[in-house]
Amino acid sequence: MSEEEIKRKEIEILRERIGIARLGGGQEAINRQHAAGKLTARERLEMLFDGGIYTEIDMFVTHRATEFGIDKKKVYGDGVVTAFGKINGRTVVAIAQDFTFMGGSVGEMHAAKIVKALNYAMSVGVPVIFLNDSGGARIQEGVDSLKGYGDIFYLNVMASGSIPQIAVIMGPCAGGAVYSPALMDFIVMVDKISYMFITGPKVVKAAIGEEVTEMELGGPEIHATKSGVAHFVAADEREAIDIVKKLLSYLPSNSLELPPRIQTDDDPERRAPLLNNLIPEDASKPYDMHMVIENIIDYGTFFEVQKDFAKNAIVGFARLYGYTIGVVANQPLYYMGALDIDASDKIARFVRFCNAFNIPIVTFVDVPGFVPGTFQEYKGIIRHGAKILYAYAEAVVPKLTVIVRKAYGGAYIAMGSRHLGADFVIAWPTAEIAVMGPEAAAEIIWRRELQAIKDDDEREKMLQKLAAEYREKLTTPYYAASRSYIDAIVEPSETRPILIKALEFLITKREIRIRPPPKKHGLIPL
Ligand code: HXC
Repeated sequence: MSEEEIKRKEIEILRERIGIARLGGGQEAINRQHAAGKLTARERLEMLFDGGIYTEIDMFVTHRATEFGIDKKKVYGDGVVTAFGKINGRTVVAIAQDFTFMGGSVGEMHAAKIVKALNYAMSVGVPVIFLNDSGGARIQEGVDSLKGYGDIFYLNVMASGSIPQIAVIMGPCAGGAVYSPALMDFIVMVDKISYMFITGPKVVKAAIGEEVTEMELGGPEIHATKSGVAHFVAADEREAIDIVKKLLSYLPSNSLELPPRIQTDDDPERRAPLLNNLIPEDASKPYDMHMVIENIIDYGTFFEVQKDFAKNAIVGFARLYGYTIGVVANQPLYYMGALDIDASDKIARFVRFCNAFNIPIVTFVDVPGFVPGTFQEYKGIIRHGAKILYAYAEAVVPKLTVIVRKAYGGAYIAMGSRHLGADFVIAWPTAEIAVMGPEAAAEIIWRRELQAIKDDDEREKMLQKLAAEYREKLTTPYYAASRSYIDAIVEPSETRPILIKALEFLITKREIRIRPPPKKHGLIPL
């Protein structure tokens, strides 16, 4: 054989092996995957990357376990595809578990591939996307599998706050397997085909006698509405990938970069006259805070996060004159916008994400306080609420705050107040900033005088008169402005142009906090 013919043979072998590797667990398993309404790992990656093009790493990795006949079950790739490529022109690393081989279960080498991909992403400074579809720890590999999981979790923690980490759940995700997504920044779940739980229905039944289906225990709806574990739910896999792409469009590639700025057609000087009439005369009446947000930011750019969880708070990304901003707001449509445990967690987590990735925070405040009652106190509203204070005080990105209506008590301080380091605070003339609502304040200050009035109607009239006096003297934004706690009182319709000017002014803000003695990290009240 000539040298050229030998080379051709080698190339043939390579091509053949690549062909085998690309089949993962084999054609039959691929058919089963499709029959279950799921795409394969490689089909998913093709959907994720620009033009379906990606560079695979470690295609020929195989496991080296031997027990329980597993040595006879061996395929290239070991049930996971790792790759880098571009999404909308920007580099990302992706990990896609391949359910067609041993149910995408995580063994020693499977985990080693994930660890290597995470290390690449960190050293290069690019986001990582983890498409989960796995039966969990590979049972035949015992503690080697757990070691692999531990290594992944460790790397997730190392990467945290340095590169964006996004998990998409496209199949089962049970037991300790949930903790890699949980350690990442965002979780997208796909309707009908995904679930996440620590303990599956069978064990739940055996342990506590509770009968529950997989979806009732940990389906997308549960995690989007009750647990808050999922940040987004997609109708199908394509939508999940679109959500990932949209999310990435707001984010920088790493903590040293600024988020990309996008050209906008929306006029920076645009007024929003509608806002001048949005707040009801009656302070006990709600309105939709989305109207405030949507009318101020660049048209159509609001991308809400955890939209069905803790609806009394709103968080999400948006653009203001093309700059990415993180929006935080109270939503008077639920609990009158009061803060409860879930809303506190939701806000604090989002604020910390924005701070880690250089995203200015714009806060819209209408908060009557923290939700009262044993159901909140027993579960620790004190330590959860404290997370909001901690997160805002800790954040060094530009912080802009708009006090729309109520800003009462501790919740006023918590919601991005000047006192926690906000850089630019404005109030609408409808703002009420005080220790508590005027009625409640009047009832305390003039308790004896009010009790002395026997007629109910008379007492109510007097209460309203005294409350009006309190409102006029102490709760108007002019009082806070006289103390310089707010920078300006603005017509609601003028908010967009003012916020844009302030954002442009603040965008170069640099605050580096090194205060002796040195510390490893602060202690956020978890
Ligand atoms: C080894 C596994 C596996 C696993 C699935 N398979 N999970 N092999 N270890 N954990 C294999 C199956 O044997 C089967 O192989 C193939 O993958 C496809 O699985 P099916 O059962 O046919 O698929 P399906 O009906 O869709 O059911 C999927 C499933 C089920 C619900 C995930 O496979 C299942 O319950 N698996 C076990 C889940 C589990 O208990 N994992 C350990 C959890 S504890 P063949 O050869 O038949 O095609 C854990 C701890 C992690 O993960 C701790 C980290 C700290």
